[in-house]
Amino acid sequence: MPLFDLSSGDPIADKRFALAQSYEEAGEFAIAADLYEQALEIAPDWVAAWYALGNARLRADDGEAARLAYERSLVLDPDDLFGARLKLALMDAAAPAAPPRAYVAGLFDQYAEKFDHVLVDKLQYRAPQLIAAALDDAGIGEVAAALDLGCGTGLMAAALAGRVLAIDGVDLSAAMVEEARAKGLYRRLSVDDIVAHTDGLEAGSLDLVVAADVLCYLGDLEPVFAAVARVLGPDGAFAFSVEALDAETENDTLGYTLRGSMRYAHDLNSLIDLGQTHDLTIATVKLDWLRLDRGEPILGFVMVFRRG
Ligand SMILES: C[S@@+](CC[C@H](N)C(=O)[O-])C[C@H]1O[C@@H](n2cnc3c(N)ncnc32)[C@H](O)[C@@H]1O
Repeated sequence: MPLFDLSSGDPIADKRFALAQSYEEAGEFAIAADLYEQALEIAPDWVAAWYALGNARLRADDGEAARLAYERSLVLDPDDLFGARLKLALMDAAAPAAPPRAYVAGLFDQYAEKFDHVLVDKLQYRAPQLIAAALDDAGIGEVAAALDLGCGTGLMAAALAGRVLAIDGVDLSAAMVEEARAKGLYRRLSVDDIVAHTDGLEAGSLDLVVAADVLCYLGDLEPVFAAVARVLGPDGAFAFSVEALDAETENDTLGYTLRGSMRYAHDLNSLIDLGQTHDLTIATVKLDWLRLDRGEPILGFVMVFRRG
């Protein structure tokens, strides 16, 4: 099935699904669930409908039935394009170390064309600018070789224009990478996971690694810190944003938590500890808002670590 295919191939099942969606939008979750079930009677292997049924049941406060629907979607699609594992984890108040890769890639493949418009114009996204300002605060000027983790459409490279001689980018989403390629700012672009890609680079070969609004798609950042620390040269810097975990209201036992937004938030002390473990010293840290989400500012830490 193609990514996020909202057609079952059967017009009647599709109509039931569309009707269910409009009831869901109107807040009629039980009716929506019933209509998704009707669609599934016609098209029982339709992953999108099982996932949507899970959501509708959850919103109708029928958690156990929602769980069954999410589990069915996972049986049919073990790669988990829709992120059912994250929904199940949220229901169990658990936080997996990382979301399914297929889910992240699919989410951003679908989003790529409208990403810049929605994020910058509507959601006032500004993590790249905050990271560039943090580099100024840390006294980091022009660098020779940089890597942009989760480069997306290339907004970070644009914010660094004039201060990097060569910047490479890596991202799980092929469609986001194509948007970045069109901007013409990167020396090399790769479609890959950030840790797998960085692990394949020469040790000590980079002056700067950046990650803008990317680490919120990972829980456990130990593998990221390990990979980045290995590729940074002697004066190298690691600059990134994360969503800020609020220890007063959110569980910080793991150093991170999975939010209802399906993004992770990270605890400041755990990040500092991770830096220490990997011989990275904190140069600057700032708490600021990164973008809006449903009209509310999302608070984040913008951090720069330096080698040694
Ligand atoms: C919100 S976008 C930010 C993109 C870009 N850094 C920016 O500032 O505009 C997050 C990006 O991270 C990518 N991403 C998330 N997890 C990833 C991973 N494990 N490996 C590679 N890319 C990842 C997504 O595909 C997406 O393009």
